[in-house]
Amino acid sequence: GVLLLVLFVLPVLLLFLNDVVNHYALSFNLLIPSETNNLHFSWHAKSKVEYKLGFQVDNPMAMAMPQANISLQGEVPRTLSVFRVELSCTGRLDSEVTILMQLNLTINSSKNITVLNFKRRKMCYKKLEPEVKSPTSDKNSSKAIFDPVNAAPTTSTRVFYISVGVCCAVIFLVAIILAVLHLHSMKRIELDDSISDSSSSQGLSQPSTQTTQYLRADTPNNATPVTSKCYPTLRIEKNDLKSVTLMEAKAKVKDIAISRERITLKDVLQEGTFGRIFHGILIEEKDPSKEKQVFVKTVKDQASEVQVTMMLTESCKLRGLHHRNLLPITHVCIEEGEKPMVLLPYMNWGNLKLFLRQCKLVEANNPQAISQQDLVHMAIQIACGMSYLARREVIHKDLAARNCVIDDALQVKITDNALSRDLFPMDYHCLGDNENRPVRWMALESLVNNEFSSASDVWAFGVTLWELMTLGQTPYVDIDPFEMAAYLKDGYRIAQPINCPDELFAVMACCWALDPEERPKFQQLVQCLTEFHAALGAYV
Ligand SMILES: *[C@@H]1O[C@H](CO)[C@@H](O)[C@H](O)[C@H]1NC(C)=O
Ligand SMILES: *[C@@H]1O[C@H](CO)[C@@H](O)[C@H](O)[C@H]1NC(C)=O
Ligand SMILES: *[C@@H]1O[C@H](CO)[C@@H](O)[C@H](O)[C@H]1NC(C)=O
Ligand SMILES: *[C@@H]1O[C@H](CO)[C@@H](O)[C@H](O)[C@H]1NC(C)=O
Ligand SMILES: *[C@@H]1O[C@H](CO)[C@@H](O)[C@H](O)[C@H]1NC(C)=O
Repeated sequence: GVLLLVLFVLPVLLLFLNDVVNHYALSFNLLIPSETNNLHFSWHAKSKVEYKLGFQVDNPMAMAMPQANISLQGEVPRTLSVFRVELSCTGRLDSEVTILMQLNLTINSSKNITVLNFKRRKMCYKKLEPEVKSPTSDKNSSKAIFDPVNAAPTTSTRVFYISVGVCCAVIFLVAIILAVLHLHSMKRIELDDSISDSSSSQGLSQPSTQTTQYLRADTPNNATPVTSKCYPTLRIEKNDLKSVTLMEAKAKVKDIAISRERITLKDVLQEGTFGRIFHGILIEEKDPSKEKQVFVKTVKDQASEVQVTMMLTESCKLRGLHHRNLLPITHVCIEEGEKPMVLLPYMNWGNLKLFLRQCKLVEANNPQAISQQDLVHMAIQIACGMSYLARREVIHKDLAARNCVIDDALQVKITDNALSRDLFPMDYHCLGDNENRPVRWMALESLVNNEFSSASDVWAFGVTLWELMTLGQTPYVDIDPFEMAAYLKDGYRIAQPINCPDELFAVMACCWALDPEERPKFQQLVQCLTEFHAALGAYV
């Protein structure tokens, strides 16, 4: 009885955030963009429902108490209405603030209260313009501060949560299925993809579900790899950096260090356990009125010294190289008392792997979202960048879509792998030796003998090409990482992706020859892909 009544009275509370309907308003602790100062909620009730509204912020120094443009107590409107909640940073310090909006609902004057908690996170930064207080007299309306004790939800609240959740899920499922049925024939329903869509459909920059394994209806995922919990260590490669200390790592980048004042952080683009990538603004040294957009890689408070050292060291992999398909580090910020930051030029569509997955999600609605020719063109660019590296005798050792970035002109650049282990933990495994490696991208000789060469980069390129053609699927997804070497030795490779032309698959397969000598050189790959690209163009 209660359940039905509740559902009837408050059909679904939707949260509109930047015009994106978020059905998961209740269940997620969403990160909101730093420049979003207003959240809009729409609501209505079918019968008499009274509400009480309250806010709580965990860091009042960084954010003023949120203000709503409705009174803090009253009756839920009977018609669909919108209210606004204003979240303004004080600009006094840099901090991530967790905001709790609590809505207590009383249905039909009964004694029972339904408590709804909406949690949001927002980055607040220093030096922002202090928020101009509105001259209206409702300054005291922010009195409703909660006691910090977490109000345990009542049983009816749980029922409400569950019912809202179930209701949303059902509505959503039905909508998705209808849409898919409408657009496609029954044969290619990729339910998992469509569902994950809902949580990450807010644009490419959303720090989203990189950790979820990518499933396809046609790719069984029975052997989900069990990632043993090993943290990245300093010994990335035996011959690389054996025991670099943080001091040494900092000393190596001193010449490109800049002051913190020149960097303004904006949105978080990607977030891991200890690392983060921000969209940032860099002010030119000579002309402070000029600004440049940058990626800022940095670590959170809980990052260990080893992790910080590793970020700095790995960021230098492509340092000093100049090629239009490479994205090397440009600056660092290593001021005392600040978390170190690594700066790279900005590419507005961000990480290639996340971009491909986004394409996959919209593919259902718009099959022409990205053409095969575009994908081959991306592969050519990666091969060009790698060819340059090979000529310079630089071995990348971790070429993969996750270590490339893309812009709106479909220009692709290869970058270093700093923070990738943290941001894409499913792509790295440690095989008992406490080294976290991109096992599924590695050539056999690298796996077995720890040998790296341009030829092992060619192998990884073949896997990257496969990632492009599958729009960001995980290779060898059903193979246990511990079995990879034996599996490769036995001659097994990743299957030809659906819709991937034979010619293109032949190119990939060449890259996976057991004998490094038999693999093509990057220069040959560029040539052969360019011819294939031209041939594709001829058909169109
Ligand atoms: C909502 O109800 C809980 C539990 O009864 C209470 O602790 C909290 O203060 C209430 N919040 C508001 C905004 O009235
Ligand atoms: C609150 O603000 C929203 C959006 O700015 C507006 O649509 C709504 O009418 C306002 N509500 C009240 C009660 O002023
Ligand atoms: C609301 O409460 C009144 C009595 O307080 C009752 O007569 C009415 O049926 C109730 N309405 C609903 C929808 O439960
Ligand atoms: C209030 O909740 C309790 C259990 O949570 C339930 O037994 C009772 O019937 C509810 N009362 C009303 C008026 O809904
Ligand atoms: C606001 O609250 C303070 C105490 O909390 C009180 O002294 C002051 O008179 C109030 N101002 C208004 C405009 O209500």
